[in-house]
Amino acid sequence: MCGIVGYTGKQRAAPLILEGLKRLEYRGYDSAGIAVPAADGFHVTKKIGRVANLEVETNRHKVAGNYGIGHTRWATHGGVTQENAHPHVSSDGAIVLIHNGVIENYTSIKKFLLGRGYTFKSETDTEALCNLIAYHYAKEPKAAADGESRLLESVRKTLLHVEGTYGIVVMGIDTPGELVCARKGSPLILGIGDGENLVASDVAAIVSRTQNVVYLKDGELARHTPASFSLSTVNEGDIKAVIDQVTWSIADAELGTHAHFMEKEIFEQPTALENTMRGRFSEDGSTAQFGGLNLSAAEFRQIDRFMFCACGTAWHACLVTEHLIERFARVPVEVDYASEFRYRNAPLHSNTLFFVMSQSGETIDTLAALREAKRKGYRVLAVNNVVGSTIAREADGGIYQHVGPEVGVASTKAFTSQLLIGAMMALYIGRMRDMSFSDGAAYVNALKAAPNLVREVLKQAPAIRKIAERFAQYSDMLFLGRLSLFPIALEGALKLKEISYIHAEGYPAAEMKHGPIALISEQCPSVFLVTKGEMFAKVVSSMQEVKARKGLIIAICTEGLELPAGLADELITIPDCDEAVLPIVATIPVQLLSYYIAVIRECDVDKPRNLAKSVTVE
Ligand code: G6P
Repeated sequence: MCGIVGYTGKQRAAPLILEGLKRLEYRGYDSAGIAVPAADGFHVTKKIGRVANLEVETNRHKVAGNYGIGHTRWATHGGVTQENAHPHVSSDGAIVLIHNGVIENYTSIKKFLLGRGYTFKSETDTEALCNLIAYHYAKEPKAAADGESRLLESVRKTLLHVEGTYGIVVMGIDTPGELVCARKGSPLILGIGDGENLVASDVAAIVSRTQNVVYLKDGELARHTPASFSLSTVNEGDIKAVIDQVTWSIADAELGTHAHFMEKEIFEQPTALENTMRGRFSEDGSTAQFGGLNLSAAEFRQIDRFMFCACGTAWHACLVTEHLIERFARVPVEVDYASEFRYRNAPLHSNTLFFVMSQSGETIDTLAALREAKRKGYRVLAVNNVVGSTIAREADGGIYQHVGPEVGVASTKAFTSQLLIGAMMALYIGRMRDMSFSDGAAYVNALKAAPNLVREVLKQAPAIRKIAERFAQYSDMLFLGRLSLFPIALEGALKLKEISYIHAEGYPAAEMKHGPIALISEQCPSVFLVTKGEMFAKVVSSMQEVKARKGLIIAICTEGLELPAGLADELITIPDCDEAVLPIVATIPVQLLSYYIAVIRECDVDKPRNLAKSVTVE
């Protein structure tokens, strides 16, 4: 969603802020802006579209100043216009602010302020917040008696009257060098540098200058000057900060030789899978082990039901996990969209263990589902990639994915890593129940083979590109699979529609007869994920039904399966593999197919329209 960057130090702030904003563009954007101090107030520049547009404008004015704030906006309240872009300046010119989140009581705040002479230029909820801080700032004595910052005090007083969610960074006209930040429900990370301090909504914007970070918690405020920072809460005084170290470097978030982050991340998957499983098998090689569950084996053994919640691609990973846990551990699993679970008040069995899956650890619906489950007294574990994220902090325990930063909006390496964790969980739970030592050992070996199997499939990238050339101009496509490959069909359809804007649907192959078959014609090709075993013949029948209606077929099929001659118009062969890793291996061709189709259609693969990497508003 929106991105935030703030800097105070000795360097010229504008170029550093622009660099940070560029690194945040993947989170969603439609306009961008920057504010730095000027001789007569603040120099504010805003532009619709890319940060590159803003950069041209900022460079034209050679904006100086050693502190400042910048923002990329993903519209919630008010259209995509220059007025609605951030930063916003209070009508008295004293306060400038950037904001992520939604202020729910902004209409009553606005009414209060209109009665006191403040005026409004935009349609945003943010401007109400900005003017309310200005109102308190004007009332605060210029030099606070107890040495407390005037800006900090006015932000604190404002927040006592605000309902909603926010991550904000504020500057005041009479408080040079100072940035005041506050968070409730919208991520903010402080970067602690040497003679300079930073703040951002994502580590990616900070890590080129410092690896020392403080993850701000809900209800906390921070005050930065170039040489110091302090932490306090909305209701109380100063608190002690815990400084964490970011474990990855800026090189991990750079493109290298790849054309897009999505391509880079697809090809990083073998290594990402190795990192996900590193150190996570027992010494006897028969089961998985996880360090952060905060649950003893005896406690885990008491669980007789699992509930998984997630959004988007992570929800597909939960569906595969459901299949694997039920298949190998024989324990019932339920999966729900986090956005539905949080409101539907589902009755839950008492011995249920709750899991949320989230690459970013910031998706607001997933966070809300976690909180709802905790409120009901359930223990909640998280599968999550971004270390120190809100979900990671609020969960009772969990499993980090360890795949490094994922920048492409369309999730790839984080997804296959979640599939691997799901498969490892099925093993872990299965071995506590009826899975034998030898079955466990064979399962471990199958999982360890996954990175090399993925390497094999990646070698077919040039051939898949050729197939993409043939299919890039269609406007509808179906993805069909069964059992554990049904969620991969959903994922294939999601990948294609989000980055190439081709309408695509994923279905269990047998359900095709109940609707999607009406779409089939020469104009609507189908991608079949051909399942081995007992379902093979049934999937082949579904393919025959498509062929009978002149539908073109791309078949993704394991080696050794013999499809009737002429049934598939294009065939992608994947190595034969164990059931536990099949969903991972079968994912690679659908990722590559979508990626190449989007590239051929000249779509902006890493920044698809209207989408955000991390959806932090409801
Ligand atoms: C957005 C992204 C998806 C992602 C989903 C859930 O929609 O565009 O790629 O799967 O959010 O994100 P999370 O960080 O919770 O896994």
